[in-house]
Amino acid sequence: MRLVFLGPPGSGKGTQAVRLSQRQGWLHLSTGDILREAVKLGNELGRKAESFMKNGELVPDHLIMEMIRMKISSGALDDGFILDGFPRTIPQAEQLKELFIGNNISLDMVILLRVSDEEIVKRLSGRWFCPVCNAGYNYPLAVPKVTGRCDKDNAHLQRRSDDDEAVVVHRLEVYKRQTRPIEDFYRTEQLLYEIPAESAPDKVFQALLNATAV
Ligand code: AP5
Repeated sequence: MRLVFLGPPGSGKGTQAVRLSQRQGWLHLSTGDILREAVKLGNELGRKAESFMKNGELVPDHLIMEMIRMKISSGALDDGFILDGFPRTIPQAEQLKELFIGNNISLDMVILLRVSDEEIVKRLSGRWFCPVCNAGYNYPLAVPKVTGRCDKDNAHLQRRSDDDEAVVVHRLEVYKRQTRPIEDFYRTEQLLYEIPAESAPDKVFQALLNATAV
């Protein structure tokens, strides 16, 4: 399967993409994860992307497309994939379409996870992660045994800088302005499949398995 996961920040794209990729063996490619790693390493991409990410703005299209072109030419997408958080603008979606045509790749489905703004603010204000092993926690969904400490290595948990409430509100505005038009783009291509994603993660995962059953 070749999938795109679409949805506002905090809709559960990462959570569900990790589960589906582990279950099915499809590559999980998250542009957000790649960018955060680049920022951590302090490489050129990270230095260029950091301020956009911190402020809840999208990183410029040309930087993202360069990343994706490299992934496609390396053959990483040859055996099925889940694109998580990409494409995110109409130009990205159009350029991806051209790239796929040029490389004989066809998308099977674009999954849109639907969640209300109130639920998103609640989820992201409760999200914590371990800076050592990257394990994710969420109050009250998945709390660590000791408050503020990772269960695996006891490291102090941190929050993503873009999960600050004011930045989350801005990320939602950015989603509505720059990413939501993609929903219509893929609806026209008859690839869009909507999943209500406000319920518990297991229930959303079951809906995903049903949608992608081959
Ligand atoms: P990115 O990392 O892609 O962030 P995002 O799209 O804003 O999404 P999140 O990671 O915040 O949420 P998610 O939908 O993955 O939800 P999750 O599963 O984590 O991008 C970050 C930044 O990078 C962007 O702002 C931009 O600057 C840049 N960027 C990335 N890609 C780009 C691109 N293509 N173009 C330009 N710029 C780009 O879940 C969230 C929380 O909710 C977790 O704590 C989880 O445990 C919890 N949760 C999940 N599911 C449920 C559930 N069913 N019920 C209750 N809680 C749940």
